[in-house]
Amino acid sequence: MVWWPPAFPLMPETSKMIPTKKDFSAKARIRDMDEYKALYQRSVETPEAFWKEQAQSLTWMHPPDAVCDTSVPGEHNWFSGGRLNVAVNCVDRHAAATPDKTAIIWAKNEPGEYENITFAELKRNVGRVANVLRSLGVRKGDRVCIYMPMIPEAAYAMLACARIGAIHSVVFAGFSAEALRDRIVDAEAKVLFTANEGLRGGKKIELKRIVDDALDGMTMVESVLVARRTDADVPMKGGRDQWLDEAMAQQRAACPAEWMASEDPLFILYTSGSTGKPKGLVHSTAGYLLYTSLTHRYIFDAREDDVHFCAADVGWITGHSYIVYGPLCNGVTTVLFESTPLYPDASRYWKTADDIGATLFYTSPTALRALMREGDEPVKQGKRESIRVLGTVGEPINPEVWRWYHDVVGEERCPIVDTWWQTETGGILISPLPGATPLKPGSATLPFFGIKPLLVDANGNRIEGNDVSGLLCIEGSWPSQARTIWGDHQRFLNTYFTAFPGLYFTGDGCRRDEDGYYWITGRVDDVINVSGHRIGTAEIESALVSHDAVAEAAVVPKPHDIKGQGIHAFVVLTESSDLGADEVSGTLKQQVRHAIGAIATPEEVIAVDALPKTRSGKIMRRVLRKIIAGEAHQLGDLSTLADPTVVDQLLEKLK
Ligand code: WTA
Repeated sequence: MVWWPPAFPLMPETSKMIPTKKDFSAKARIRDMDEYKALYQRSVETPEAFWKEQAQSLTWMHPPDAVCDTSVPGEHNWFSGGRLNVAVNCVDRHAAATPDKTAIIWAKNEPGEYENITFAELKRNVGRVANVLRSLGVRKGDRVCIYMPMIPEAAYAMLACARIGAIHSVVFAGFSAEALRDRIVDAEAKVLFTANEGLRGGKKIELKRIVDDALDGMTMVESVLVARRTDADVPMKGGRDQWLDEAMAQQRAACPAEWMASEDPLFILYTSGSTGKPKGLVHSTAGYLLYTSLTHRYIFDAREDDVHFCAADVGWITGHSYIVYGPLCNGVTTVLFESTPLYPDASRYWKTADDIGATLFYTSPTALRALMREGDEPVKQGKRESIRVLGTVGEPINPEVWRWYHDVVGEERCPIVDTWWQTETGGILISPLPGATPLKPGSATLPFFGIKPLLVDANGNRIEGNDVSGLLCIEGSWPSQARTIWGDHQRFLNTYFTAFPGLYFTGDGCRRDEDGYYWITGRVDDVINVSGHRIGTAEIESALVSHDAVAEAAVVPKPHDIKGQGIHAFVVLTESSDLGADEVSGTLKQQVRHAIGAIATPEEVIAVDALPKTRSGKIMRRVLRKIIAGEAHQLGDLSTLADPTVVDQLLEKLK
């Protein structure tokens, strides 16, 4: 289902350009638009030559024979014949050149507490964890699930998998036992990493207990490795569970790296789609690593002495690409931030940035909206002098929040990179280059090297020229494009390559303004973006109807001041339901938390007598979307509605 035209207004009229900062540009990798345009032209006109040259930044065990084969959409492959190892690129080569340099700064949940891990230490720890995995019988191609808080062991586990060629599937530690189990089963993981407990803000999260629930009655997972984050003792199941520190202590630090083919899968990462169960997007070894490191180098203008502070979680693609793989491949110090932007107060990011000398800072519009609400004073509690580039990702940023980020946080000194991309794209596709691109608050601006965005209408006609809106597609392939959906290649093709034949369909609406700048307007499918997290309406609906009292459910987004979008659910109760009117919302919210996790909790669950449906029985979510957004006066074409009185009943109910 494609929502077009969008239910909410497009971006405001184009604002004036903010010129690049002279001091920054003078030292930048790409210093002006002429340089950007020249390199961009070369990247799209002679992609083979461009990517062949870029690929030299990686350390290969055997160089590739070819650059790319992208002739059939959805069957792309890159750098065939090449052999390499991601851990060698992200760890070993820096451990050899700069062993004492800090690879990871772990900013613990408690303010002011940090732990630095050098590249030499990282290599030893990754080697030990890799040997633990080998001792458990994990071999190339096996799947390993990682359900961990933001602690160094999470990065060790990812890189250890990469070292021996196991495919990791990191599951965000905020997901519930049920959601974790679904992901373990889909990937058929045989080993799972977790921690006894996680700490986040003022909260403790009983990760091991959740894992035990998820694995209850399951034999697929043979071994559970438990990192010790707190003093809490947790039940350990004999023959299955062991403490990670004890297992590591029994292993040598040296572990030979597997020679991986360019196209061998590096990881699976689950994300929500508009239908059915979550999709396990599969990313490749060479193309993914090359593209994430290259984008990190140019979009953050990254240098050897940078400290890259990305406040995301490794459970999301941003954490994979711009906490772990991109920065470490470039030999840049990266930060694992365990806490939250508001713990213990709204100055946390800025004090942390000062303490660790962060030079590059990357966060989400949701976090910025929450911080802006707290005023400027907490920002001023940090000096922020070390920061050179500010970035955002995950959702459209409102121009006023962008302004605040630029004027107050960056004191008009730092360029802002509003980076548009997706789990499926592996790395950033549309973004300013900080020394070259004049900025417009709210616009992700222009495509990165090698990327050809285009807009189509709902019938698939290409929309040429500027000052136009449409559905965002990408023509051709780029190295870090997802290769498939784990176990379901047909679903991969159907989801991304059939709506508009020959093109990759992003699921986003977009405007190209009179200067050719791109403005992402948000999802046009049944995916809700809550605080930058993608959640499919179908998943929430299925969680709701799995409750005995619910006969039918429909879920729609409503604009939310902080979260961007909030989740609103309508349910029709079964005749036998014994839920009292005052119990419906609380009980069913709890149901969703249980099935998916706290991030998917609806703002409200409203019991109604009937849902608006077409004559063929399809729920008209478009109508619900409008009603909940207070736009009942513009419900659009209702001629397909089976029973028009349903709308009146709904309006009456929501009065
Ligand atoms: C949205 C996150 C506007 C978009 C890296 C996309 C954005 C979805 C931006 C992917 C941005 C991401 N401006 N919208 N700068 N970045 N989005 O897979 O709707 O978690 O399709 O990847 O987030 O979310 P995902």
